[in-house]
Amino acid sequence: MTHTRIIGTGSYLPERVMTNAELEKLVDTSDAWIRERTGIAERRVVADDQSCSDLAIEASRAALESAGVTPEDIDLVVLGTCTPDRIFPSTACLVQRALGIRSGAPAFDVSAACSGFVFALDVANRFIRTGGAHRALVIGSETMTRLLDWTDRGTCVLFGDGAGAVVLEASDQPGILSTHLHADGSQEELLHVPWGVGRGYKALDDTSGKIKMRGNEVFKVAVRTLGRIVDETLEANGLTKADVDWLVPHQANIRIIQATARKLGLPMERVVQTVKYHGNTSSASIPLALDSAIRDGSIKRGDLLLLEAFGGGFTWGSALVRY
Ligand code: ACO
Repeated sequence: MTHTRIIGTGSYLPERVMTNAELEKLVDTSDAWIRERTGIAERRVVADDQSCSDLAIEASRAALESAGVTPEDIDLVVLGTCTPDRIFPSTACLVQRALGIRSGAPAFDVSAACSGFVFALDVANRFIRTGGAHRALVIGSETMTRLLDWTDRGTCVLFGDGAGAVVLEASDQPGILSTHLHADGSQEELLHVPWGVGRGYKALDDTSGKIKMRGNEVFKVAVRTLGRIVDETLEANGLTKADVDWLVPHQANIRIIQATARKLGLPMERVVQTVKYHGNTSSASIPLALDSAIRDGSIKRGDLLLLEAFGGGFTWGSALVRY
């Protein structure tokens, strides 16, 4: 069976920086609390006239350029998001149109909250490995600030906007070694946006379209679950913790990231950390982190990367990648 390699990465952040000091003016919080409990110092916020697809398009352009391919070379687009521009067409179709990716190539969104990119990567990898596609654009893009209740200090300090993308290509050399996806819908009330168009507009009030989270309970489930998926991923490949060069985690909270690094026995210098400047960008966070560590020269060709995410659903997943 064919292998799948990452041949290019790109990302995009909106210009507007929102600091913790600004949040101090909105809710009863402090820069010190946010930094200590989450590791976040600032996040980006989309402009009024920007949408999820705009961020995705910019990240995709950068990924295509770094891969040295053109939009006509792409035959599959898979985009993870929980903040799509429209009910339909999918955000992936909007990206396809804007970039001029050829008509007929499948393009669709994947909804798995903060695990959206890992889910999208898994799907695209399966397409390529089974011959359904040759070169795929995989994107995570989010305008999470549009889902925030700016009076809820338990959530509004955590999230930010951005997008990241990778180009995958069929190869005879191993790249994505394995992917592992999971979901458990039984604890929805711990983390959700309890409204969607399917519920009807009568069910919509001021905050029903906003993120609601029992953060402390989510925190404990996330740490436990990510610890398990590290073992699952390494065991599936007959590898040990010592083989991993870089952890590229979902950037929700520095303390969750530290717990996973401890589980792997990895020093924090081997963990890609962007949460301080991006906050939690949901499905954009892993491709944003990956792109930044590749561009600054930290991650090099041949390195073994462990990508992992946990989010609403609950959903969680990982990918082991020989870059
Ligand atoms: N500023 C100041 N105090 C605050 C703030 C704030 N922004 N938010 C909460 N507090 C207070 C609480 O009210 C509480 O006060 P009390 O003791 O008087 O009741 C105290 O701080 C401690 O609250 P906890 O919720 O126990 O704080 P915790 O250390 O758990 O940190 C946090 C909260 C940052 C939300 C953390 O629990 C977390 O990161 N959870 C996981 C988030 C996550 O991973 N989500 C999954 C991905 S998101 C997605 O899929 C869309």
